[in-house]
Amino acid sequence: MTRIAVLVSGGGTNLQALIDTQESEGLGDGELSLVVSSVPDVFALERAEKAGIKSLVLDTKNYAKQSEFDASLSSTLSEHDIGLVVLAGFLCVIGQKTLSTFENRIINVHPSLIPSFCGKGFYGLHVHKAALEKGVKVTGATVHFVNNEIDGGKIILQKAVDVLADDTPQTLQQRVMKEAEWVILPKAVRMFCNGEIK
Ligand code: GAR
Repeated sequence: MTRIAVLVSGGGTNLQALIDTQESEGLGDGELSLVVSSVPDVFALERAEKAGIKSLVLDTKNYAKQSEFDASLSSTLSEHDIGLVVLAGFLCVIGQKTLSTFENRIINVHPSLIPSFCGKGFYGLHVHKAALEKGVKVTGATVHFVNNEIDGGKIILQKAVDVLADDTPQTLQQRVMKEAEWVILPKAVRMFCNGEIK
């Protein structure tokens, strides 16, 4: 059984998609075992509690240096015997210690078709705003492995979503979540836990 940690910083709708999938069809050989938030009092923590998943907060504000946060995150994940780390709206850069300890075991969901609209500064609504400004007709979401380049790791799954003429960043974000992120993230987690990703 692969113990899965989900790292969050906000509302946690992708966490909810994982919880719902675990309850309906399962996550293969995986089990949601821990939720870590970098921000206190976010709704994702309530979702974890309701689902009976252990959660804890590593508040970035309590760490003077990024390397201290990194060390704390890495040891927390190791203590909980985590085999897969899922970044689901986690708005912190993963440091070297965590990257090396969990090499090829950290995945992220990003709300665009990488390599478009990704890298530093591209997160949340900023991504959809940039897509609308560019005038793309198709966008989507990507699940990829995490390495030391922001949004630069190997791509696991992608799903395209049409941009509509009257879209706002908010309506586009909602459609990309519903049609792409909440579909491909649970699928990628199940594939990983079943050993289907090489
Ligand atoms: C999601 O759209 C996720 O793809 C994005 O933040 C949102 C979190 O929503 N992540 C990034 O932009 C990372 N670069 P959620 O908390 O409701 O899952």
